[in-house]
Amino acid sequence: MNVANTPDIFYPSQEVIDQANVSDYEAMYKYSVEDREGFWAEQAETLSWFKKWDTVLDESNAPFYKWFDGGQINIVHNAIDRHLENANRNKMAIIWEGENGQKRNFSYNGLNREVCQFANVLKSMGVEKGDVVTIYMPQIPELVFAMLACAKIGAVHSVVYGGFSTEALASRIDAAHSRVLITADGGWRRGKQIDLKSIADDAMKRSPSIEVCICVKNNELDVEMEPSRDFWLHDLKALPIAGSTCETEPTEAEDPLFILYTSGTTGQPKGMVHTHGGYAVYTSTTHRMAFDIKPQDRWWCAADPGWITGHSYIVYGPLINGATIMLYEGAPNYPYPNRWWQIIENYGINILYTSPTAIRGLMRFGERWPKKHDLSSLRLLGSVGEPINPEAWKWYHSVIGNGKCPIIDTWWQTETGGFMICPLPVTPLKPGSATKPFFGNEITIVNDDGVEVAANEEGKLMINNPWPGMARTVYKDAQRYKDLYWAEVDGKWRYLAGDSAKKDDDGYIWVIGRIDEVLKVSGYRLGTSEVESALVSHPSVTEAAAVGLPHELKGNAIHTYVILKDGVVADNKLALELKAHVGAEMGKIAMPEAVEFVDSLPKTRSGKIMRRVLKARALGQDEGDLSTLEE
Ligand code: WTA
Repeated sequence: MNVANTPDIFYPSQEVIDQANVSDYEAMYKYSVEDREGFWAEQAETLSWFKKWDTVLDESNAPFYKWFDGGQINIVHNAIDRHLENANRNKMAIIWEGENGQKRNFSYNGLNREVCQFANVLKSMGVEKGDVVTIYMPQIPELVFAMLACAKIGAVHSVVYGGFSTEALASRIDAAHSRVLITADGGWRRGKQIDLKSIADDAMKRSPSIEVCICVKNNELDVEMEPSRDFWLHDLKALPIAGSTCETEPTEAEDPLFILYTSGTTGQPKGMVHTHGGYAVYTSTTHRMAFDIKPQDRWWCAADPGWITGHSYIVYGPLINGATIMLYEGAPNYPYPNRWWQIIENYGINILYTSPTAIRGLMRFGERWPKKHDLSSLRLLGSVGEPINPEAWKWYHSVIGNGKCPIIDTWWQTETGGFMICPLPVTPLKPGSATKPFFGNEITIVNDDGVEVAANEEGKLMINNPWPGMARTVYKDAQRYKDLYWAEVDGKWRYLAGDSAKKDDDGYIWVIGRIDEVLKVSGYRLGTSEVESALVSHPSVTEAAAVGLPHELKGNAIHTYVILKDGVVADNKLALELKAHVGAEMGKIAMPEAVEFVDSLPKTRSGKIMRRVLKARALGQDEGDLSTLEE
């Protein structure tokens, strides 16, 4: 192809085309939607199964679909064990750098030893197949070991992002009813030690289900250890029971692999459940095809393993594909704004996958920081988490990728498990569009009645088919899963993503943003209701509303409206105190940008806060239809 680029379309170079794992998107796409089961069965064949499946897709209880039912597999058998039998055995699996310069590397063989020991430790603490283990850790290798150790023995992990705080952790432990918590004494962020264990201690006071807490020693913090409950991992690993071999437990393809809590429109976060079989097939296939993974690649997904991006594309997809993964613990601009560029040069990273918010954040320091470094090892770049604005896209493309690296903008969700819309490296790119559906997926943009809208018109993003990586349910709340995401249109179950989007004349999809009250703050997904409950838990507050307003760097910034209890004086000091309170309950990322004291909130007659009215007022926009407003 190699057509000249225009300001709006970027074509792949001949070099990119020549080495592509998949060179003809259109042909493969046609096949994948005409014979969806055939396509996915072929992908599943590339994995190791203990027992082959009976059916590829079971639709008998839709929208509760089953994939590869009757098959037996374990994702760890694919992510680690099978690599030990070939040349990957001594290949680097994880390269880790701590913020303060510490370095640790693990070959696949070394990774296996760590995971086996950890799995034996979990067994010795009574963890059994199907038990939910909560993990609350900084970005250290032990976080990955802990996840894989759970999966290896058939236990279900529930990772809570290490940047969350007490209430966020406590409510997730409670919802999953975990008996075991894995944490660390602390982590590092911008040169400071973050005291995770004391946050975990407070959370455990609120969540009595925890009987055992396994703590990793990661820094120099003095922490309290409760003798009958808290154990140091290094002490447990020194016991004879923690031998360096451990059999991988065969699990059913549909057995749960993990729960990941994510924010929705209302109420408590939902525990999305993913499985061993379909998820393994989906994450490895998407990663291999969209990012053209080669055996010698050094892959860096600069997300936190505690979010879905990290689960699917730091841990599972890349390890199944036998890649070498980079893991960095700290902030992108610590101690200087060249930290990431230095890592790319030092380790010869080939593919960088990150978020628009990180790119915008680094872009503001100027070109001189990346220009100090040799970034020529980079072959592909990726983006995820929110729409990427064309300005950031072009900077990423020209300054970081030197004009030669396609940008793989991937649209997906915690619920989808892996990429749903994304280019392949050979796809001509339009900055700001995630381009076309990934194989097997048919996506339409529809109006409120589920009818497809015309090209270039905004509507709801709808997925018309099941896919192997889809979440199977909301933990302990199947009804909520069905009600929240699925609608029957023309006699078929369709998945509604909660995003608005447009399709242009070339069939390129442009995702606009959420249509519900989910916020994307620096790429992190948060619900307005969680911020509101954190505010209301403060003794001075009766009621609160949170909205997301556009923010140049963060995507969304949280603005809050607070009604105080009678007699409480509204002043700046209290506003600061409330911000800090949300930070302590939920985590720093949820701290509101602004707290405004008000006497009333716009509500519907049925008492629901009309956040869209607050938002429109704050932005000086038309308030829209006010017919349901009480007042
Ligand atoms: C948004 C993150 C535009 C979208 C993997 C989605 C995106 C939500 C993109 C899911 C993208 C994610 N372009 N928007 N490339 N990727 N989003 O569950 O609104 O943290 O619904 O999953 O992020 O967020 P989540």
